[in-house]
Amino acid sequence: MNNFLLSTPTRIRFGEGQVSSLTKEIPKDANILLTMGSGSIKKNGILKAVLNSLQEYKITLFEGIEANPEFDTLVKAIELGKNESVDHIIAVGGGSVLDGSKLIAAGIANPSIDPWEIVTSGGKDAKRALPIGAVLTLPATGSESNGNAVISRRATGDKLGIASPHFYPQFAILDPTHTYTLDERQIANGVVDAFVHTMEQYLTYPVNAKIQDRFAEGILNTLIEEGPKALQERDNYDVRANVMWSATMALNGLIGAGVPQDWATHMIGHEITAVHGLDHAQTLAIVLPSLMSHQKQAKREKLLQYAERVWSLDPCEEESIDRAILLTRDFFEKMGTSTNFSGYGIDEPYISQIINKLDEHGMRALGEHGKIDLDASREILEAAC
Ligand code: NZQ
Ligand code: ZN
Repeated sequence: MNNFLLSTPTRIRFGEGQVSSLTKEIPKDANILLTMGSGSIKKNGILKAVLNSLQEYKITLFEGIEANPEFDTLVKAIELGKNESVDHIIAVGGGSVLDGSKLIAAGIANPSIDPWEIVTSGGKDAKRALPIGAVLTLPATGSESNGNAVISRRATGDKLGIASPHFYPQFAILDPTHTYTLDERQIANGVVDAFVHTMEQYLTYPVNAKIQDRFAEGILNTLIEEGPKALQERDNYDVRANVMWSATMALNGLIGAGVPQDWATHMIGHEITAVHGLDHAQTLAIVLPSLMSHQKQAKREKLLQYAERVWSLDPCEEESIDRAILLTRDFFEKMGTSTNFSGYGIDEPYISQIINKLDEHGMRALGEHGKIDLDASREILEAAC
């Protein structure tokens, strides 16, 4: 096992009705900027429940953070927050609202820094951020208890990840009933995203990190069991609770501590979203199976372990590797998330454009060995048409 430093500072309040405990988390004199997406929380009553429990507080509402949060929109929220002298951010929504709110929190707290510099520095230029609280409505990204955010700027075709210890939400409300109104596409997106987060930290090479491996396999097995049920049994609380907790555990730092990590699928996927506008998880479903086949030799030992422990295949049989890759692909397809470009009506993906963007962003040596160069990324994409 590799050395590691692990801090998971976010307080989690999990379960039905937890929104009523918001007041326990926020000081009475807080001046809050409440951030939200394009209206789902108005329709399903979550906004009302949040406002009900925060009646005593001064609140400014910022509505309209898009899926794949747009930098220009976030700048408007930063200006509003400065004008209103807000000192707390409460983000109510999915990963996009939470991620966007992290940049908003940093932009307000660092008024002398251009917010775009915060993005291009990868988050390092954010010397501080306002305290953030999250009310999660879409289990997928793990943003509710990690220090990461992904910010898009459509004018320049960029989608960039940032990270900072200041970006961890101080608390997160995880109420599985808040996810009942997700449509099938978003349920599937969440399950696939959490699955791929787990794979990025698991499917590398063995370092004898037994706890991390077993936890990761537990998350994968849970998602395989519960994901399809979440599509069929729309208001099954236990299913939603298990999916929600899986997604949080997949990217709160725990399974990634002390192990090598890959993240090539995500880096390539971000460029696909920037170029083709596909949902984040759709891009992952396109890239991961193709990358697994391409990296069969480099990932051989872990692929055999994955085949045995996640798919109950014989680890002594070489063909178990191909079978496990196929079963992974089938699982995504069963969730309704296509695993190639043509499944989204993209018969001729702009592969050269995607590769150019990877090059521009310095993504020339991806993967746990840094061996997925631009040629390898191109081959992975070409095999995913
Ligand atoms: O905008 P509203 O109206 O709220 O609708 C949203 C949005 O249209 C809707 N939605 C959310 N909760 C709902 C709901 N609809 C009905 N009922 C509910 N309870 O779902 C749509 C998608 O929401 P979004 O927040 O975009 O989805 P997700 O949580 O998948 O977030 C995706 C973003 O997170 C980034 C992605 O790149 C992408 O930009 N990621 C962030 C990570 C992180 N911070 O660690 C890691 C991930 O790998 C990922 O890159
Ligand atoms: Zn992801």
